[in-house]
Amino acid sequence: MGFMDELKKAGKDIKRSLMDIKSAPFVKEMCEATANMYRLGWDERNGGNISYLLDEKQVAEYLDLKNVIRIFPLAGVNAAEFDVTPLIGKIFIVTGTGKYFKNVAADPEANLGIVRIAKDGVELLWGYNDGGRTTSELPAHLMCHMARLKADPEHRVVMHSHPTYTLAMNFVHELDEKKFTHTLWEMCTECIAVFPDGVGILPWMLCGTNGIGEATAKKMEEFRLVIWSMHGIYGAGRTMDETFGLIETVEKAAQIYMLTAHLPRINTIKDSQMRELAKLFKVNYRKDFLDD
Ligand code: 13P
Ligand code: ZN
Repeated sequence: MGFMDELKKAGKDIKRSLMDIKSAPFVKEMCEATANMYRLGWDERNGGNISYLLDEKQVAEYLDLKNVIRIFPLAGVNAAEFDVTPLIGKIFIVTGTGKYFKNVAADPEANLGIVRIAKDGVELLWGYNDGGRTTSELPAHLMCHMARLKADPEHRVVMHSHPTYTLAMNFVHELDEKKFTHTLWEMCTECIAVFPDGVGILPWMLCGTNGIGEATAKKMEEFRLVIWSMHGIYGAGRTMDETFGLIETVEKAAQIYMLTAHLPRINTIKDSQMRELAKLFKVNYRKDFLDD
C-alpha cells in the first residue's frame, strides 16, 4: 500500500471510530437550553445566543479536529478588532446568527456550530450546514469569556437572552446597579445566595459591536450577570445549568417585582435578613449593595 493509500485509510479509521456528534452531551445541553429559553418566552424570533467553551479531548471523540469546513471572520455585524490571543485554539459550540431558538433542538446541525478560534478568524468544525455562521454577538461573547476565565478558570458558558420581566423592569426601575440589585434581592429569599455578586448594568448601547462587547466584558470582571438596558441580559457560569439558573432567578425576581410594583408594599425582606441568608449560604455578597 502506497503512502497516500495509508493516509486515506488512517482518515477512514478516525471517521469510523468517531461517535455521533448529535449524541454528544454538549450538543444536547445546547438543545435543551435553547428549547427552555424559548418555552419561557425569553427568546422570541432569533433573540438570544449561547457560547460554550468545550474540552478539546471531548470534542475529538466526535469530530476530526483536522477537518476545517469553512473559515469566517471574527466580526459580528460590524468589523471586529480585538485581541483573541488567550482564546486561540479554543473550541466553542455557538448558536448561529439569525437562528430561532425554537428550531435548535429539531435541527442542531443547521442552528449550531462548533468552531475553533484562530488568530484572525473562526474555523468551522461542524454545523451551520445551511451556510450560516456564529451569532452576531460573538465579539461580546469572546470578550466575556476572556474576562470570566481570568476571574474563574472553571468558567465555560456565556448566555444572552431577552427575558420578559427583566426587560419590563428596565423601563420602570432606576437603572442603577446597587438599587436594581437590591430590589431583585428583596423579591425572593434566595436571590442573594444565587447572585451575591449582584447585577451589572450597561446603558442602552448598539448591539453587535466591539463597544458593547468591551463594556460587557469590563462588567464581567466583577459580575456574572450584566443587563443590557432595554435589550436583555448576559449571564456567565461554569455550567449551562448554573448560567441558566442565574438568568432564571433574576427573571423570577423581576416577575415578582412587576407583579407587585404598582401595589402598596406591606411586607419586604429586610437587609438584616439578607445578611443572615448570606451568612447561612456562606456567600461573599456585595456589602455595598445593602443599605443598613
Ligand atoms: P443573533 O441572531 O446574531 O445571535 O442575534 C440575536 C440577538 O439577541 C442580538 O442581540
Ligand atoms: Zn439580543
